[in-house]
Amino acid sequence: MPPPESLSLELDRAKVLVCVGAGGVGKTTTSAAVAMEAARRGRRVIVLTIDPARRLAAALGLPEIGNQERVVSNESFERLGLEPPRGVLSAMMLDVKTSWDEVVMKYHPEPEAKRRLLENRLYFTLSTALAGSQEYMAMEKLYDLATRTEDPLDLIVLDTPPASQAVDFLDAPSKMLAALDNDATRWLLEPYTTAGRVTSRLFDAGSSFVIRSLGRLTGTATLEELAELLSQFQGMYEGFRQRAKAVRVILSDPSTSFWVVAAPHPSPIETALSFYDRLSADGIPVGAFLLNRAEPDPFEHTPPAPELLRARVLAVGGSEALAERWLQAVQSSHMAATLERERRDQLAAKVGISEARPVRLVPELPVDIHDLAGLEALRASIFGADPPFGEPPVPAFRES
Ligand SMILES: Nc1ncnc2c1ncn2[C@@H]1O[C@H](COP(=O)(O)OP(=O)(O)O)[C@@H](O)[C@H]1O
Ligand SMILES: [Mg+2]
Repeated sequence: MPPPESLSLELDRAKVLVCVGAGGVGKTTTSAAVAMEAARRGRRVIVLTIDPARRLAAALGLPEIGNQERVVSNESFERLGLEPPRGVLSAMMLDVKTSWDEVVMKYHPEPEAKRRLLENRLYFTLSTALAGSQEYMAMEKLYDLATRTEDPLDLIVLDTPPASQAVDFLDAPSKMLAALDNDATRWLLEPYTTAGRVTSRLFDAGSSFVIRSLGRLTGTATLEELAELLSQFQGMYEGFRQRAKAVRVILSDPSTSFWVVAAPHPSPIETALSFYDRLSADGIPVGAFLLNRAEPDPFEHTPPAPELLRARVLAVGGSEALAERWLQAVQSSHMAATLERERRDQLAAKVGISEARPVRLVPELPVDIHDLAGLEALRASIFGADPPFGEPPVPAFRES
């Protein structure tokens, strides 16, 4: 197995770290814990989170909405008895609507069209509900953060949207461009933008795809409204294209590391492997696999003999029946953990284990991770020694 240091090496090497994985696997929490480790190691790091649990957002100093970068203060750590990081940990929560507004404000070349666009009711739909909008805006934010010259960052940790696959994420810019800046779309809508009349083009073969994709964008909009929306974007397309290209370059850079988060079970591991294949096909190596919420192993090595375990329960006044139940519970945990280690090793063998590609089991923590203390516990188990858990406590109660 790679030593835990190899994960830290991978972290130190990265300037951009992207956590990908299926929804609900712990991407948001993991991203924050990984950023915390980088800050502890002395770097200036920002985690761009997506939809963190409310209490976790509060712990990171993030308000409910907004796109502001917040530095997690030293007092926030000290209050919980934690050592503040040597570097700087800051966090930002992606707010899709605000991000769209920022992009339009910053890059739209025509003041009048800009104003009308921002007021357009379809623009509102687009900036809140369009599928892929979140991924796209994460890209715009990444571009923003990676290219800023004032207060430059050492590391950007990017959380990815809940329903996202690595694939969606990589394809977001091209999909967004295809929806907004499609020759067919513009050709189709041309009559509206000029004369405001319906032409037979709408009924041509081949146009139905465009109508369908735009229909999905807006639901109930008329074609006139769509044409208007697209025309209000005039002058921005080239910028969209250029930034999408620049982000592509950032994502393919050797200093960008993709970490795949997955549950340590057969089907999620298959999904993780398909991310791996997809990223490899794009020439992007995976930096690490984190098999999250693994069964904590009650025993580091060979479990003690059952009689010894039973005797411990009896020694604190537990009954024979309690001793038996406890024994069964810890033995079954040990079995599950052993199985997960096997899966980890199989995955490592498949992807070609090396110093540069650690596969780590991250245990399920017994606490809800909603504050810096929870994150600190997760951080310690991600980057700690393997296996990071000791023997379980003997139940500290008596049966009446
Ligand atoms: N290792 C872990 N131990 C315990 N709880 C975890 C662990 N990893 C994630 N969680 C919890 O799982 C839930 C989902 O995590 P989250 O990071 O929001 O997932 P995602 O961003 O992938 O949807 C959260 O309540 C989080 O606190
Ligand atoms: Mg999330």
